[in-house]
Amino acid sequence: MTDYNGLGRDFLDSVSGKRVLVRSDLNVPLDGTTITDDGRIRASVPTIKALAEAGARVVVTAHLGRPKGAPDPAYSLAPVAARLAELLGAPVAFATDTVGASAQETVAALQDGQVALLENVRFNAGETSKDDAERGAFADELAALADAFVSDGFGVVHRKQASVYDVAQRLPHAMGGLVATEIDVLRRLTVEPERPYVVVLGGSKVSDKLGVIDNLLDKADKLLIGGGMVFTFLKADGLEVGKSLLEEDQLDTVRSYQARARELGVEIVLPTDIVVADSFGDEASARVVAATEIPADTLGLDIGPESGKAFAAALADARTVFWNGPMGVFEQAAFAEGTRAVAAALTEVDGLSVVGGGDSAAAVRTLGFDEAAFGHISTGGGASLEYLEGKELPGITVLED
Ligand code: 3PG
Repeated sequence: MTDYNGLGRDFLDSVSGKRVLVRSDLNVPLDGTTITDDGRIRASVPTIKALAEAGARVVVTAHLGRPKGAPDPAYSLAPVAARLAELLGAPVAFATDTVGASAQETVAALQDGQVALLENVRFNAGETSKDDAERGAFADELAALADAFVSDGFGVVHRKQASVYDVAQRLPHAMGGLVATEIDVLRRLTVEPERPYVVVLGGSKVSDKLGVIDNLLDKADKLLIGGGMVFTFLKADGLEVGKSLLEEDQLDTVRSYQARARELGVEIVLPTDIVVADSFGDEASARVVAATEIPADTLGLDIGPESGKAFAAALADARTVFWNGPMGVFEQAAFAEGTRAVAAALTEVDGLSVVGGGDSAAAVRTLGFDEAAFGHISTGGGASLEYLEGKELPGITVLED
């Protein structure tokens, strides 16, 4: 039973004085050593706090970026430890290795209710190894640091990695509140969603979204498409897209989705105007053109204002919305308005509005929206997409055993 922050009361009652290993997703964007978006750290705090308040000795393990299985200072979690301490309002002991002498000493020195963070778990090649034995050996070392395991890194539950999957097979385990909440919300997007159900997809590549389109096409009422991926849709409709991003090898797949959507009565809404520029990021040359008249020597970098309004109108009566992927290059003001229009429309939704993780979650924060205005902002990019694709998530199934 999950009666307190996703963790069962029985579990919390059992952890006092115990070492609890928590897998969090603290993979945040950094500019040098400055954290540019601490959303994932903030989302990880409630579970860590609940365990500390229950008297556990909390040992957090997490990754940052994709180092190559060896220590690399550019991917150190040290700045994250400092921010976590600020957010917890309590010290966080930082171990400078993953399972070595520093980790062992740091964990041994923990008192009840104290928190430690181990260095980037991907500094050890065993973490991401495809070899079960190598991964298992590393998981043995991680497990030796604790008496119980809590899986709370939703952003990594689609990874069959030592600190996500194998360690759960070695320790008594529980699902953390963050993972429980994310799964609950995603379930509402796939099982009897309230209608109208509108799915908004953007981001650069159609190929990243194929599984989601495939799986949600017969569940959604409308599919709104923007971002770099829209040019493959426009091209599939016979339009010229200039130098815009285009995945020629996906044209037939896109046409097959359009045909299926027609059969199912699902409306695919494409932009009717586009913000183009002469070259990538060239704000000075940004201008709005009709989607039917993209000049050959330009590329599209955002949906246009007319499309922003049309997308907002399509979202106005929605009772369920899932949005993944920005509408344009939102990091630059000249190409941010499409994403802003969609984000603003989501804040008006009377029902469940879900912002998929990764770039779209970063976009709403970067553009200054109040997070509380959205139903749910997922911490998982790939993980939420894989769930919505209907794939099995190893980090979830292992908890059910
Ligand atoms: C993410 O950023 O989506 C998660 O932290 C997972 O990271 P990964 O794609 O490097 O496994």
